[in-house]
Amino acid sequence: MAIRPVEERFERIGFHTHIKGLGVRNGKAEFAADGMVGQVKAREAAYIIVQMIKKGKLAGRAILLAGPPGTGKTAIALAIAKEFGKDVPFISMSGSEIYSTELKKTEILMRAIRKAIGVRIKEYKEVIEGVVKNIEYSMTQHPYNPYQQIPASVKLTLATDTEKRDFTGDTNIAMALLQQNVREGDVIMIERETGRVTKLGRAREYKGEYDLEGEIYVETPRGPLIKEKEFVYTLSLHELDLTKARSTGGGVFSLLFGGEREEITNETRQEVDELVKRWIEDGRAEIIPGVLFIDEVHMLDIEAFAFLNRALESEMAPVVIFATNRGITKIRGTDIESPHGIPIDFLDRLLIITTEPYKEGEIRKILEIKIREEGIEMEEDAFEELVRLGVENSLRYALMLLGPVMEIAGQEGRKNVVKTDVERASELFIDYRKSAEILRNYEKEFLL
Ligand SMILES: Nc1ncnc2c1ncn2[C@@H]1O[C@H](COP(=O)(O)OP(=O)(O)O)[C@@H](O)[C@H]1O
Ligand SMILES: [Mg+2]
Repeated sequence: MAIRPVEERFERIGFHTHIKGLGVRNGKAEFAADGMVGQVKAREAAYIIVQMIKKGKLAGRAILLAGPPGTGKTAIALAIAKEFGKDVPFISMSGSEIYSTELKKTEILMRAIRKAIGVRIKEYKEVIEGVVKNIEYSMTQHPYNPYQQIPASVKLTLATDTEKRDFTGDTNIAMALLQQNVREGDVIMIERETGRVTKLGRAREYKGEYDLEGEIYVETPRGPLIKEKEFVYTLSLHELDLTKARSTGGGVFSLLFGGEREEITNETRQEVDELVKRWIEDGRAEIIPGVLFIDEVHMLDIEAFAFLNRALESEMAPVVIFATNRGITKIRGTDIESPHGIPIDFLDRLLIITTEPYKEGEIRKILEIKIREEGIEMEEDAFEELVRLGVENSLRYALMLLGPVMEIAGQEGRKNVVKTDVERASELFIDYRKSAEILRNYEKEFLL
């Protein structure tokens, strides 16, 4: 079984870690703020859209970011998501990802949409919380392995500042305590309904006795040992679908291991929707619409657009942002040419924002931010060379060179980057426009 994380977008977002928001105050974009630089018109437009979304005035519509490669389309989409708060889902995909051998195109889109809708769930659970005063396991033989002993049960003495009591736990609780290496002096929490054990840390009063490295010290819980506690967490509709689809089996484990191939039926999704609506009515949950970003929109075909048309009308929809660097091109799956390869009826739904190629001042500032954030030390003339390469080729190229540049400086045993490192990196790695040009020239030489 392949192990893969639920969220597969780390790499692409890592490229944009410096983006914290749109950097717009009172409708005006500052030249550089929240990690965003320049692209003033696009950012101010995006800000207006954020305000509209917050007032629920974007329903049924979507956004298209149109501009040349490396002009910050992805960065702006991410900045829009950041404007909504920290647990707002941002799901990024390329139009080409709908073509898979395992799932239908519409199924992939449906999953992406449901990944981009968060449900913030508030739960009150009865818990036992206290300091471990005594812990005793009674062991028994493993049912399948005669050489192994497992805990059959556990006797615990727990205490708060005012109460002290004995508890008996079954084999599951005993195993969980053993696995987390719970010992006298630890503060633990046991959820009564599920028996889930969480080690919260070590009671401060035990500090000094057998200290382990990296120990977290916490206060001794106050008041009664058994109490109601509020839990808040955000799951996506897709995660709820998966959990529901497997409610007979794997549970949380199936969220962590594989899972994209798992079949989710329409009934399952309907049941999840009903459940979520009930939670909302009971005040136990709220919907957190996130952002679904679909890059290379011309890779979507006519069927995908038909599906998205319907999805945008549904009562639970994320904010959908498309991006393109194409002008007029064929709508995939047809012979019809259309702006950005998007069908006309769909274009009618879109608010379009354009991004423009960067000028030197913007390239300089973005490079400066990225270099500072990565903690790179760089000589003045090395930086100037990098800016020059960015202007001559592209911002993306200059950003891409940062990795090799550091590697080269490291090989020379230096921590700071000097001009020759940048020159060497640009000799070894070239911009894709140049590499294409070189190959085209070869073709001319060899084929003609
Ligand atoms: N206006 C901007 N401010 C700060 N960083 C930017 C800006 N525009 C682009 N970047 C950064 O430059 C790189 C390329 O931009 P990206 O958003 O991927 O362009 P696009 O999606 O248009 O191809 C990314 O690392 C991005 O975070
Ligand atoms: Mg992009």
